[in-house]
Amino acid sequence: MAIFRSSTRDVPDDTPCVPRHVAIIMDGNGRWAKQRMMPRVFGHKRGVDALRETVKACDTLGVEYLTVFAFSSENWRRPADEVSFLMGLFLRVLNTEIERMHERGIRLKIVGSRDKFSAELVGLIEAAEARTADNTGLTLSIAADYGGRWDVLNAVNRCLAEQPARAALTEDDIAPFLAMNYAPEPDLFIRTGGEQRISNFLLWQLAYTELYFTDLLWPDFGLGAFNDAIAWYQGRERRFGRTSEQLQATSGC
Ligand code: IPE
Ligand code: IPE
Ligand code: MG
Repeated sequence: MAIFRSSTRDVPDDTPCVPRHVAIIMDGNGRWAKQRMMPRVFGHKRGVDALRETVKACDTLGVEYLTVFAFSSENWRRPADEVSFLMGLFLRVLNTEIERMHERGIRLKIVGSRDKFSAELVGLIEAAEARTADNTGLTLSIAADYGGRWDVLNAVNRCLAEQPARAALTEDDIAPFLAMNYAPEPDLFIRTGGEQRISNFLLWQLAYTELYFTDLLWPDFGLGAFNDAIAWYQGRERRFGRTSEQLQATSGC
């Protein structure tokens, strides 16, 4: 298993002009539908189309990892009919898209707790991951029933279960147990929908990620908007705690 370097333990060797890892909070589906006098769930359906387009854009640009927040550990608080629609949509999308993804070399990962999912959904998730496990193209991670605090606590508890005698843990002890242990930390975070918050997404992993917020609602987020986010990212100076002068030697994008 590849363990990537931590941005707090080491200064990254290079800060890539094309982000290796993009993490997105796909927010604003409900408002998008409401603006059109449609039920909220219509926005979720259109959200899948926007995701398909973003996957394609990442693929074309050479992004290696795309991680999207599809359902948070707090989204269970939504009305039961919306939750059950979202679970059904997840099931349908996995069913209909997996072969297409496989053909394009995409490796699919689902991160989060599976405890509350139906047996059918868990079976489909496992089959989809197994089917695409050896693919070497874009790694698409879907965070579903995911919470950043859940992730950190789960990692600490699993680590302690293996090494109960430990009095203190280090980053290196915990990192292999985190849900995204197969990916480098995100370079670029995007949140659509106008809110400027993390909403319990990748709390640990976003330590030094560039944070980009746009008012566009997720179903409206297309190739042009994606390229704007990339251009914004390419204008950032990633210092990782150092001064600007210390970075002069390294060239920008
Ligand atoms: C994001 O869109 C999708 C999920 C959380 C599943 P929302 O459903 O949060 O849309 P808004 O924020 O209410 O517009
Ligand atoms: C965050 O969106 C979660 C997902 C996009 C899946 P929310 O719409 O649930 O976030 P809050 O409640 O506005 O913070
Ligand atoms: Mg929302």
